[in-house]
Amino acid sequence: MQNRYIDLIEQAFVFPQSDFNLDNGNLTFHGLPLMPLIREYGTPLRITYLPKIGEQIEKARGWFAQAMAERGYQGQYHYAYCTKSSHFSFVMEEVLRHHAHLEISSAYDVDIIERLYLRKQLDKDKVIICNGFKAPLYTQRIAKLINLGFRRIIPVLDSKEELNEYLSAIIGEFEIGLRIASEEQPEFGVYTSRLGIRFTEIIEYYQQVISPQQRTKLVMLHFFINSGVKDTMYYWNEFRKALKLYCELKKICPSLKAMNIGGGMPIPHSLDFAENYDYEYMVGEMVGLVADTCRREGVPEPDIWTEFGQFTVGESGALLFSVVREKQQNDRETWYMIDSSLMNTLPDIYGIGQRFLVLPINKWHNPVKRVQIGGQSCDQMDYYNQEVNGQDVYLPEVEMGEPLYIGFFNMGAYQEALSGFGGLKHCLLPSPPHLIIDRDDNGTEIFRVFSDSQQPEAMMDILGY
Ligand SMILES: Cc1ncc(COP(=O)(O)O)c(C=O)c1O
Repeated sequence: MQNRYIDLIEQAFVFPQSDFNLDNGNLTFHGLPLMPLIREYGTPLRITYLPKIGEQIEKARGWFAQAMAERGYQGQYHYAYCTKSSHFSFVMEEVLRHHAHLEISSAYDVDIIERLYLRKQLDKDKVIICNGFKAPLYTQRIAKLINLGFRRIIPVLDSKEELNEYLSAIIGEFEIGLRIASEEQPEFGVYTSRLGIRFTEIIEYYQQVISPQQRTKLVMLHFFINSGVKDTMYYWNEFRKALKLYCELKKICPSLKAMNIGGGMPIPHSLDFAENYDYEYMVGEMVGLVADTCRREGVPEPDIWTEFGQFTVGESGALLFSVVREKQQNDRETWYMIDSSLMNTLPDIYGIGQRFLVLPINKWHNPVKRVQIGGQSCDQMDYYNQEVNGQDVYLPEVEMGEPLYIGFFNMGAYQEALSGFGGLKHCLLPSPPHLIIDRDDNGTEIFRVFSDSQQPEAMMDILGY
């Protein structure tokens, strides 16, 4: 029996896949050989493969278009990008090039909108869905945008108190949405999300407060199910409840025309993802459920909006590391120490137990070995030793001094915002350099260094030295 790394992968998964393949025995990511990048830029290295972002947006549009056509669906589908998943300018520019709308979450997001507008990368017709808890600075910034003529801004009320702030700050008419506080998944620490308005209060609130207002119209009902878009009883139950509420509201609120189902579309965090998750089926079920329910209730089918964050940007990202030392700490545990910190670069690993797709970049034909991947901070939690479904991590065995490179893939969403890109780092282990890869019209790769490795001066300044 063969026990090389490549044999393990070929026996356990369908490999190669469209985004992961081998070139001369070394890994490619979206068709891009990674070893030449490592030779040129070194490790640790954060990369963003920009064309993937547009591909994802078009894929989702295709699934919804197909599902809607098959069911003779009367409403439209709109793709909005959830900016908090990655605010970087190059990501936003790519999203806007693909004509996606935006969903924002805080006052400083409005600064991004203003800058994109000044750079002529966004115009006043862009739909901007304003979600999240609204502190006064945020509501004021939203009102200012509306007063400046961004007429397609939709503040989604997170609490009932919010509306008065818009009524006093906005000149003229404006549209609003309402967010339903969804029930959390059974294993979570609280029953109901702190975000949004209580399900049982929405109809009464609309009738007593929103409906009598002359200057505002309710156009969107929003819900976001934290567990993500999953084929589970819990997901479909919450979805049906929101849909039922949409139909009830629509009967008394003629201006309501959009149902926003939030984010949560998953992406591959293991090589068997495609065997276990069928995007077209999920989208078909969602569209079918909306169509059937609305027809049964006798209300027009709404436009469906999504705010995919991770789905848009996750698969564009990878982090490449070198294994710099092997440590055998007992008879069973071999540590592969990397040249960075996992806590600093991939905080979701220790924060929410997130699993990423980990693959070696070279040495695929070496024997395979079970390992623990160790980060360089002195924190106990700076490690990774379990894949999705609790499987152990296997990587190629290497002789002393033989270089081994590994990658954490599909990590393009949330990690920099959570780790405080450019800020202080645990044990002062710096952020890696960030390389952006694009393709020109002929498909030739274009490389741009977005940021170099974080230098000591950056941290010394923050620390007051
Ligand atoms: C309101 C809302 N919409 C969209 C998203 C994006 O979720 P995801 O990145 O899972 O697509 C989030 C994430 O927290 C959210 O809170």
